[in-house]
Amino acid sequence: MKNFNFSLILFILLIPFFSNAQTKVAPVKVKENFWYKNSVIYNLEVGAFKDSDGDGRGDFNGLIQKLDYLKAIGIDAIWLAPFQPSPGQDDGYDVADFYGVDEKLGTIGDFTEFLYQAQKKGIRVIMDLVINHTSDQHPWFQKSRQSKDSKYRDWYVWSKERPKDWDKGMVFPGVQKEVWSLDEKTGEYYYHRFYKFQPDLNYSNPEVMQESQRIIGYWLNQGIAGFRLDAVPFIIEVPKTGSEKPKLDFDFLTNMRQFAQSRKSDAAILGEANVVPEENQNYFGKNGEGIQMMFNFFANQHLFYALATGDLKPFSQAIEQTKKIPEASQWAHFLRNHDEIDLGRLTDKQRQEVYAKFGPDTTMQLYQRGIRRRLAPMLGNNRKHIELAYSLLFSLPGAPVIRYGEELGMGDDLSLKERLSVRTPMQWTNEKNGGFTSADTAFRPVINKGDYGYQQLNVAKQFRDPNSLLSWTSRIIKLRKSCPEIGLGDYTLIDSGSPDILAIRYDYNRKSLIILHNFNPQSRQASIKSEKMKVLYDLMAENLDKKAESGKFSVSLDGYGYKWYRVDSMIP
Ligand code: NOJ
Repeated sequence: MKNFNFSLILFILLIPFFSNAQTKVAPVKVKENFWYKNSVIYNLEVGAFKDSDGDGRGDFNGLIQKLDYLKAIGIDAIWLAPFQPSPGQDDGYDVADFYGVDEKLGTIGDFTEFLYQAQKKGIRVIMDLVINHTSDQHPWFQKSRQSKDSKYRDWYVWSKERPKDWDKGMVFPGVQKEVWSLDEKTGEYYYHRFYKFQPDLNYSNPEVMQESQRIIGYWLNQGIAGFRLDAVPFIIEVPKTGSEKPKLDFDFLTNMRQFAQSRKSDAAILGEANVVPEENQNYFGKNGEGIQMMFNFFANQHLFYALATGDLKPFSQAIEQTKKIPEASQWAHFLRNHDEIDLGRLTDKQRQEVYAKFGPDTTMQLYQRGIRRRLAPMLGNNRKHIELAYSLLFSLPGAPVIRYGEELGMGDDLSLKERLSVRTPMQWTNEKNGGFTSADTAFRPVINKGDYGYQQLNVAKQFRDPNSLLSWTSRIIKLRKSCPEIGLGDYTLIDSGSPDILAIRYDYNRKSLIILHNFNPQSRQASIKSEKMKVLYDLMAENLDKKAESGKFSVSLDGYGYKWYRVDSMIP
């Protein structure tokens, strides 16, 4: 009997090796493990979010107070704008110490408490990693410029002569004058892709490379879930290969990702790389071994063209052109961020059309390629148009990223310099300074006039109003979270029967969605055909009306209307 049992067990164990009759085991869907595939990400600046100590500037303790708010609207991950010590000439994107917290925003203890509280609420925190350059006040640069023999000389990129392309490839044309500037002390030129006070680090120096890993390791160890990697195409430039078409070292990204994951297996890197679709693979890696996520700047600019003109073709093409990405990779889709909307990838004619509609005044334009406004004022505060834009954002193939205040429809302040126009303090209540600070003067003015003034537009008011944009945004986030197909599934742009209506279908794990958006201010008829669809259930309607008959379906959409349908199922 004993022997028999042993043979039986052995037999069972060996079946898979000898038998042709394969048992069907569902493959593990590895991509479902990647938290970033379907996360709703919220970008904020600590200094502009909530002041807790009445000094006029937001801080980590203020942010801790507002975590319940972020949880309530459905945020999965916070992306923190730079918070390290900085002279603040580029709003923190000029770091003077990579291992600290700016004392104006709190102590390292406050920061750690914030991370703990966020984690406790199930909110991940990613941070801006600005390692292409430092502030010129950073001790490394101070030492580097002291003498040609300094130990830190080679940490930056120097040239004895002024290079031929000293004024080419500027990121801030109109404001910036050159990319190579003379350093009086040693009589040599240093390279800076951005402002003059942001000297580029030299990654061909192994010591700099190692230091960048120290920085990544340090913050992951603190509890950070990943990074928004600033200025990716510039970090990977091979120094002195020209400022117009430099050589790029993509292995850098693979190494960085490997390093990050060796310290924290689910750490994710979200890259800021405004590149053409042909280049995407270089950044994601052929098999997803590069950075995990990138902002889809290409789709973003064509989306603004579609919003401005109603012409959907270039945007649909952009969605098709950015479709093929490795399984482990993901797009981050966004409407507005903390910078100008970069329209540099549109044709001149297309850009002019967007300017004419959304930024006709030259004070609204920036760097000869963009618009420095928030979404609501660009869309004339037209609620239907704003909803269309956000409903679309939440339905795009990738993870949605929103910027603080967009959920309220906050406005901009064009009297502020360059991109500060879209970085005004968060409007919490109708009290002094919008409840952002108890100080008489905020570090940056709170919008206090007209339709966008805090007196009318604030969280407290909108939170109570089921018809407010804030309540609508929380509902659409909830809906988005019930549709994992969007972040994980295959998608197809299907024929909507109208040139004004974008129709997208998602399929994943035997679940499907069809989502429609009408870009025209007038109502339009959609007619969809699909053999695979028997019944459509409207996910936003209160009743459970069945739609569609034998693979055909027609519906009228209001001007700027949108519809989310689940195929053949009433619930997720
Ligand atoms: C990109 C950031 O988004 C921008 O705000 C900043 O000025 C530059 N990188 C330089 O760090």
